[in-house]
Amino acid sequence: ISLKPFNTFGIEAFAKHYISIESINELKEALSLENYPDIFILGGGSNMLLTKNMDALVLHVNIKGISIISEDDTSVLVQANAGENWHQFVLWCLEKDYGGLENLSLIPGNVGSAPIQNIGAYGRELKDVFVSCQALDKATKRLKTFTKEDCKFEYRNSIFKQEEKGKSVICNVTFRLSKKNHTLHTSYGSISKQLEQMNITQPTIQDVSKAVIQIRQSKLPDPKKIGNSGSFFKNPVILKEHFSKLKENFPEIPGYPVSDTETKVPAGWLIEKAGFKGKQFGNYGVHKEQALVLVNYGNAKGQDILDLAKLIQKTVQQLFNIAIEAEVNII
Ligand code: EPU
Repeated sequence: ISLKPFNTFGIEAFAKHYISIESINELKEALSLENYPDIFILGGGSNMLLTKNMDALVLHVNIKGISIISEDDTSVLVQANAGENWHQFVLWCLEKDYGGLENLSLIPGNVGSAPIQNIGAYGRELKDVFVSCQALDKATKRLKTFTKEDCKFEYRNSIFKQEEKGKSVICNVTFRLSKKNHTLHTSYGSISKQLEQMNITQPTIQDVSKAVIQIRQSKLPDPKKIGNSGSFFKNPVILKEHFSKLKENFPEIPGYPVSDTETKVPAGWLIEKAGFKGKQFGNYGVHKEQALVLVNYGNAKGQDILDLAKLIQKTVQQLFNIAIEAEVNII
Protein backbone atom coordinates (compact mmCIF):
# COMPACT_ATOMS: atom_id res chain seq x y z
CA ILE A 1 0.00 0.00 0.00
CA SER A 2 1.23 3.51 -0.80
CA LEU A 3 1.87 5.73 2.21
CA LYS A 4 1.75 8.89 0.09
CA PRO A 5 -1.77 9.89 1.23
CA PHE A 6 -0.76 9.33 4.85
CA ASN A 7 2.23 11.68 5.14
CA THR A 8 1.93 15.45 4.78
CA PHE A 9 5.33 15.61 3.05
CA GLY A 10 3.61 13.73 0.22
CA ILE A 11 6.52 11.30 -0.17
CA GLU A 12 5.92 8.09 -2.09
CA ALA A 13 6.88 5.05 -0.05
CA PHE A 14 5.26 1.64 0.24
CA ALA A 15 4.32 -0.42 3.27
CA LYS A 16 4.32 -4.20 2.89
CA HIS A 17 1.70 -4.64 5.60
CA TYR A 18 -0.85 -2.06 6.71
CA ILE A 19 -3.84 -2.12 9.07
CA SER A 20 -6.18 0.76 9.86
CA ILE A 21 -6.93 0.60 13.58
CA GLU A 22 -10.33 1.85 14.68
CA SER A 23 -10.56 0.79 18.34
CA ILE A 24 -8.37 -0.07 21.29
CA ASN A 25 -9.39 -3.71 20.90
CA GLU A 26 -8.28 -3.75 17.27
CA LEU A 27 -5.00 -2.25 18.41
CA LYS A 28 -4.56 -5.00 21.03
CA GLU A 29 -5.27 -7.67 18.42
CA ALA A 30 -2.87 -6.19 15.90
CA LEU A 31 -0.12 -5.91 18.49
CA SER A 32 -0.63 -9.58 19.31
CA LEU A 33 -0.22 -10.77 15.71
CA GLU A 34 2.56 -13.25 15.34
CA ASN A 35 5.09 -12.98 12.53
CA TYR A 36 5.25 -9.18 12.72
CA PRO A 37 8.09 -8.42 15.09
CA ASP A 38 8.54 -4.99 13.60
CA ILE A 39 5.64 -2.56 14.02
CA PHE A 40 5.38 1.06 12.95
CA ILE A 41 2.72 3.27 14.52
CA LEU A 42 1.36 5.86 12.09
CA GLY A 43 -0.69 8.82 13.27
CA GLY A 44 -1.44 11.91 11.19
CA GLY A 45 1.87 11.58 9.33
CA SER A 46 2.55 15.28 9.76
CA ASN A 47 5.91 15.10 11.49
CA MET A 48 7.86 12.53 9.53
CA LEU A 49 10.04 12.18 6.50
CA LEU A 50 9.90 8.80 4.78
CA THR A 51 13.20 7.94 3.14
CA LYS A 52 12.48 4.33 2.19
CA ASN A 53 9.80 1.65 1.88
CA MET A 54 8.63 -0.02 5.07
CA ASP A 55 9.08 -3.66 5.91
CA ALA A 56 7.37 -3.17 9.25
CA LEU A 57 3.67 -3.74 9.83
CA VAL A 58 2.15 -0.26 9.73
CA LEU A 59 -0.64 0.31 12.24
CA HIS A 60 -2.55 3.46 11.31
CA VAL A 61 -4.25 4.78 14.44
CA ASN A 62 -7.71 5.93 13.36
CA ILE A 63 -9.56 5.66 16.67
CA LYS A 64 -12.23 8.41 16.61
CA GLY A 65 -14.42 10.08 19.19
CA ILE A 66 -14.59 13.09 21.49
CA SER A 67 -16.35 13.04 24.86
CA ILE A 68 -16.87 15.24 27.89
CA ILE A 69 -15.55 13.50 30.99
CA SER A 70 -16.76 16.00 33.58
CA GLU A 71 -17.51 19.69 33.97
CA ASP A 72 -18.27 22.37 36.48
CA ASP A 73 -19.28 26.02 36.13
CA THR A 74 -15.96 27.22 34.87
CA SER A 75 -14.13 24.35 33.22
CA VAL A 76 -14.57 21.10 31.36
CA LEU A 77 -12.52 17.94 30.93
CA VAL A 78 -12.63 16.82 27.31
CA GLN A 79 -11.21 13.54 26.08
CA ALA A 80 -10.35 13.05 22.41
CA ASN A 81 -9.32 9.78 20.85
CA ALA A 82 -5.96 9.51 19.14
CA GLY A 83 -7.25 9.33 15.56
CA GLU A 84 -9.13 12.64 15.68
CA ASN A 85 -7.66 15.28 13.42
CA TRP A 86 -6.09 17.94 15.67
CA HIS A 87 -7.55 21.00 13.98
CA GLN A 88 -11.03 19.46 13.69
CA PHE A 89 -10.84 18.84 17.42
CA VAL A 90 -9.80 22.46 18.07
CA LEU A 91 -12.78 23.64 15.97
CA TRP A 92 -15.12 21.32 17.91
CA CYS A 93 -13.95 22.97 21.15
CA LEU A 94 -14.31 26.51 19.76
CA GLU A 95 -17.81 25.68 18.53
CA LYS A 96 -18.73 24.80 22.13
CA ASP A 97 -16.87 27.91 23.37
CA TYR A 98 -14.30 25.86 25.29
CA GLY A 99 -11.10 27.89 25.64
CA GLY A 100 -7.45 26.84 25.70
CA LEU A 101 -6.65 25.41 22.30
CA GLU A 102 -7.23 28.47 20.10
CA ASN A 103 -3.53 29.36 19.74
CA LEU A 104 -2.91 25.82 18.52
CA SER A 105 -5.33 26.15 15.59
CA LEU A 106 -4.47 24.66 12.20
CA ILE A 107 -1.57 22.50 13.38
CA PRO A 108 -1.52 19.46 11.10
CA GLY A 109 -1.64 15.95 12.54
CA ASN A 110 -3.78 13.94 14.94
CA VAL A 111 -4.61 14.22 18.64
CA GLY A 112 -2.64 11.08 19.53
CA SER A 113 0.65 12.50 18.27
CA ALA A 114 0.25 15.89 19.92
CA PRO A 115 1.73 14.92 23.33
CA ILE A 116 4.75 13.18 21.79
CA GLN A 117 6.37 16.43 20.79
CA ASN A 118 4.29 18.70 23.03
CA ILE A 119 3.01 20.64 20.01
CA GLY A 120 3.20 24.38 20.39
CA ALA A 121 2.62 27.61 18.55
CA TYR A 122 2.03 31.32 19.18
CA GLY A 123 3.05 31.29 22.80
CA ARG A 124 1.13 28.19 23.89
CA GLU A 125 1.98 24.52 24.18
CA LEU A 126 -0.11 21.39 24.54
CA LYS A 127 1.15 20.99 28.11
CA ASP A 128 -0.69 24.17 29.16
CA VAL A 129 -4.07 22.41 28.82
CA PHE A 130 -3.04 18.75 29.03
CA VAL A 131 -4.38 16.68 31.95
CA SER A 132 -3.48 13.09 31.05
CA CYS A 133 -3.38 10.53 28.28
CA GLN A 134 -3.89 6.79 28.03
CA ALA A 135 -1.48 4.67 26.07
CA LEU A 136 -1.53 0.97 25.31
CA ASP A 137 1.64 -0.73 26.45
CA LYS A 138 2.93 -2.81 23.53
CA ALA A 139 4.37 -5.52 25.76
CA THR A 140 1.58 -6.02 28.31
CA LYS A 141 -1.32 -4.88 26.02
CA ARG A 142 -2.67 -2.88 28.94
CA LEU A 143 -3.72 0.75 29.08
CA LYS A 144 -1.44 2.97 31.13
CA THR A 145 -2.35 6.47 32.26
CA PHE A 146 0.26 9.20 31.95
CA THR A 147 -0.36 12.32 34.01
CA LYS A 148 1.08 15.63 32.95
CA GLU A 149 3.95 15.12 35.37
CA ASP A 150 4.65 11.62 33.99
CA CYS A 151 4.95 13.05 30.48
CA LYS A 152 7.94 15.29 31.35
CA PHE A 153 6.97 17.89 28.78
CA GLU A 154 9.59 20.26 27.45
CA TYR A 155 9.94 22.34 24.29
CA ARG A 156 9.08 19.85 21.49
CA ASN A 157 9.89 16.96 23.81
CA SER A 158 8.26 14.46 26.19
CA ILE A 159 8.75 11.03 27.73
CA PHE A 160 7.32 9.58 24.50
CA LYS A 161 10.43 10.73 22.63
CA GLN A 162 12.69 9.49 25.45
CA GLU A 163 12.30 6.56 27.87
CA GLU A 164 8.86 5.61 26.59
CA LYS A 165 9.79 5.80 22.90
CA GLY A 166 8.40 2.87 20.92
CA LYS A 167 6.97 1.24 24.05
CA SER A 168 3.35 2.35 24.00
CA VAL A 169 0.68 3.73 21.68
CA ILE A 170 -1.28 6.81 22.79
CA CYS A 171 -5.01 6.05 22.50
CA ASN A 172 -6.64 9.19 23.92
CA VAL A 173 -5.80 12.54 25.46
CA THR A 174 -7.68 14.53 28.12
CA PHE A 175 -7.62 18.33 28.28
CA ARG A 176 -8.88 20.86 30.80
CA LEU A 177 -10.53 23.75 28.99
CA SER A 178 -12.26 26.89 30.23
CA LYS A 179 -16.01 27.42 29.81
CA LYS A 180 -16.08 31.14 30.60
CA ASN A 181 -13.83 34.09 31.47
CA HIS A 182 -11.35 32.69 28.99
CA THR A 183 -7.77 33.83 29.37
CA LEU A 184 -6.53 35.05 26.01
CA HIS A 185 -2.89 34.70 25.01
CA THR A 186 -2.23 37.38 22.44
CA SER A 187 1.16 38.64 23.56
CA TYR A 188 2.99 36.65 20.87
CA GLY A 189 3.82 39.61 18.64
CA SER A 190 2.07 38.79 15.43
CA ILE A 191 -1.26 37.80 17.05
CA SER A 192 -2.05 41.24 18.43
CA LYS A 193 -0.96 42.81 15.14
CA GLN A 194 -3.19 40.43 13.22
CA LEU A 195 -6.18 41.18 15.48
CA GLU A 196 -5.61 44.90 14.95
CA GLN A 197 -5.59 44.37 11.22
CA MET A 198 -8.86 42.50 11.58
CA ASN A 199 -10.23 45.55 13.47
CA ILE A 200 -10.96 43.49 16.56
CA THR A 201 -10.45 45.30 19.85
CA GLN A 202 -12.18 42.84 22.23
CA PRO A 203 -11.20 39.47 20.87
CA THR A 204 -12.94 36.19 21.70
CA ILE A 205 -11.20 32.80 21.63
CA GLN A 206 -12.74 32.31 18.19
CA ASP A 207 -11.10 35.57 17.01
CA VAL A 208 -7.72 34.45 18.36
CA SER A 209 -8.13 31.21 16.43
CA LYS A 210 -8.95 33.13 13.25
CA ALA A 211 -5.90 35.35 13.73
CA VAL A 212 -3.64 32.32 14.23
CA ILE A 213 -5.11 30.67 11.14
CA GLN A 214 -4.43 33.78 9.06
CA ILE A 215 -0.84 34.06 10.27
CA ARG A 216 -0.18 30.37 9.65
CA GLN A 217 -1.70 30.54 6.18
CA SER A 218 0.50 33.49 5.29
CA LYS A 219 3.74 31.79 6.38
CA LEU A 220 3.31 28.05 6.28
CA PRO A 221 2.58 26.06 3.12
CA ASP A 222 -0.71 24.11 3.05
CA PRO A 223 0.35 20.44 2.98
CA LYS A 224 -2.59 19.69 0.68
CA LYS A 225 -0.94 21.92 -1.92
CA ILE A 226 2.79 21.71 -1.14
CA GLY A 227 4.14 18.74 0.78
CA ASN A 228 5.82 19.64 4.08
CA SER A 229 6.08 18.71 7.76
CA GLY A 230 6.06 22.17 9.32
CA SER A 231 9.27 23.24 11.02
CA PHE A 232 11.92 20.79 9.93
CA PHE A 233 14.35 21.79 12.69
CA LYS A 234 14.00 22.78 16.33
CA ASN A 235 15.05 26.24 17.43
CA PRO A 236 18.47 25.76 19.03
CA VAL A 237 19.29 26.87 22.56
CA ILE A 238 22.83 28.20 22.95
CA LEU A 239 24.95 29.64 25.76
CA LYS A 240 24.63 33.38 26.39
CA GLU A 241 28.37 33.90 25.77
CA HIS A 242 28.07 32.19 22.40
CA PHE A 243 25.11 34.42 21.56
CA SER A 244 27.02 37.60 22.55
CA LYS A 245 29.92 36.58 20.32
CA LEU A 246 27.58 35.97 17.38
CA LYS A 247 25.98 39.37 18.02
CA GLU A 248 29.35 41.03 17.32
CA ASN A 249 29.41 39.61 13.80
CA PHE A 250 25.64 39.60 13.23
CA PRO A 251 24.19 42.53 15.22
CA GLU A 252 20.68 41.80 13.97
CA ILE A 253 20.57 38.16 15.16
CA PRO A 254 17.31 37.55 17.11
CA GLY A 255 17.35 35.64 20.41
CA TYR A 256 15.02 34.95 23.31
CA PRO A 257 16.48 34.29 26.77
CA VAL A 258 15.25 30.93 28.11
CA SER A 259 17.29 30.84 31.34
CA ASP A 260 20.02 32.83 33.09
CA THR A 261 22.63 31.14 30.95
CA GLU A 262 20.89 30.26 27.69
CA THR A 263 19.31 31.93 24.66
CA LYS A 264 17.03 30.41 22.06
CA VAL A 265 17.77 31.44 18.49
CA PRO A 266 15.24 31.07 15.65
CA ALA A 267 16.60 28.42 13.30
CA GLY A 268 14.62 30.11 10.52
CA TRP A 269 16.85 33.16 10.84
CA LEU A 270 20.05 31.09 10.76
CA ILE A 271 18.88 29.20 7.66
CA GLU A 272 17.80 32.39 5.92
CA LYS A 273 21.16 34.03 6.74
CA ALA A 274 22.90 30.93 5.37
CA GLY A 275 21.22 31.71 2.05
CA PHE A 276 18.74 28.85 1.82
CA LYS A 277 15.42 30.67 2.13
CA GLY A 278 13.26 30.09 -0.95
CA LYS A 279 15.95 27.99 -2.65
CA GLN A 280 14.51 25.38 -4.98
CA PHE A 281 16.39 22.23 -6.01
CA GLY A 282 14.27 20.63 -8.70
CA ASN A 283 11.14 19.30 -7.04
CA TYR A 284 12.07 20.15 -3.44
CA GLY A 285 13.49 23.05 -1.51
CA VAL A 286 13.18 25.59 1.30
CA HIS A 287 9.88 27.44 1.69
CA LYS A 288 9.81 31.05 0.44
CA GLU A 289 8.02 32.55 3.46
CA GLN A 290 9.59 30.45 6.26
CA ALA A 291 13.12 29.11 6.02
CA LEU A 292 12.45 26.54 8.75
CA VAL A 293 10.11 24.61 6.47
CA LEU A 294 11.40 22.20 3.81
CA VAL A 295 8.98 21.50 0.98
CA ASN A 296 8.19 18.83 -1.60
CA TYR A 297 6.93 20.46 -4.81
CA GLY A 298 5.87 17.04 -6.06
CA ASN A 299 7.47 13.61 -6.42
CA ALA A 300 10.54 14.50 -4.42
CA LYS A 301 12.37 11.63 -2.76
CA GLY A 302 12.67 11.57 1.01
CA GLN A 303 16.40 10.95 0.67
CA ASP A 304 16.83 14.16 -1.40
CA ILE A 305 15.09 16.20 1.29
CA LEU A 306 17.20 14.51 3.95
CA ASP A 307 20.36 15.38 2.01
CA LEU A 308 19.22 19.00 1.79
CA ALA A 309 18.56 19.01 5.55
CA LYS A 310 22.09 17.71 6.15
CA LEU A 311 23.58 20.38 3.89
CA ILE A 312 21.66 23.06 5.81
CA GLN A 313 22.86 21.65 9.14
CA LYS A 314 26.45 21.61 7.93
CA THR A 315 26.30 25.16 6.61
CA VAL A 316 24.68 26.53 9.77
CA GLN A 317 27.31 24.70 11.83
CA GLN A 318 30.14 26.25 9.80
CA LEU A 319 28.71 29.78 9.82
CA PHE A 320 27.45 30.05 13.40
CA ASN A 321 28.95 27.06 15.21
CA ILE A 322 25.41 25.94 16.07
CA ALA A 323 24.11 22.40 15.64
CA ILE A 324 20.48 22.49 14.58
CA GLU A 325 18.55 19.33 15.30
CA ALA A 326 15.78 17.89 13.13
CA GLU A 327 12.33 18.19 14.67
CA VAL A 328 10.81 15.87 12.08
CA ASN A 329 11.19 12.10 12.56
CA ILE A 330 13.36 10.62 9.84
CA ILE A 331 12.10 7.16 8.87
N1 EPU B 1 12.87 33.99 10.96
C1 EPU B 1 13.64 34.47 9.93
N2 EPU B 1 13.49 33.94 8.69
C2 EPU B 1 12.61 32.96 8.43
C3 EPU B 1 11.81 32.45 9.48
C4 EPU B 1 11.96 32.99 10.74
O1 EPU B 1 14.45 35.36 10.14
O2 EPU B 1 12.53 32.53 7.27
C5 EPU B 1 13.03 34.57 12.32
C6 EPU B 1 12.37 35.91 12.51
O3 EPU B 1 13.19 36.67 13.35
C7 EPU B 1 11.08 35.56 13.23
C8 EPU B 1 11.53 34.40 14.09
O4 EPU B 1 12.45 33.70 13.27
O5 EPU B 1 10.62 36.62 14.03
C9 EPU B 1 10.40 33.48 14.54
O6 EPU B 1 9.67 33.02 13.41
P1 EPU B 1 8.22 32.37 13.57
O7 EPU B 1 7.35 33.23 14.41
O8 EPU B 1 7.72 32.00 12.23
O9 EPU B 1 8.44 31.08 14.46
P2 EPU B 1 9.54 29.92 14.41
O10 EPU B 1 10.39 30.05 15.63
O11 EPU B 1 10.24 29.89 13.10
C10 EPU B 1 8.06 28.31 15.84
C11 EPU B 1 7.58 26.90 15.77
C12 EPU B 1 6.41 26.78 14.80
C13 EPU B 1 5.29 27.69 15.28
C14 EPU B 1 5.84 29.12 15.35
C15 EPU B 1 4.84 30.09 15.93
C16 EPU B 1 9.54 25.54 16.22
C17 EPU B 1 10.52 24.55 15.68
N3 EPU B 1 8.64 26.01 15.35
O12 EPU B 1 8.60 28.62 14.56
O13 EPU B 1 5.94 25.44 14.87
O14 EPU B 1 4.18 27.65 14.42
O15 EPU B 1 7.00 29.16 16.22
O16 EPU B 1 4.72 29.88 17.29
O17 EPU B 1 9.57 25.83 17.41
C18 EPU B 1 6.21 23.28 13.86
O18 EPU B 1 6.69 22.91 14.92
O19 EPU B 1 6.07 22.49 12.88
C19 EPU B 1 5.80 24.67 13.70
C20 EPU B 1 5.36 25.17 12.56
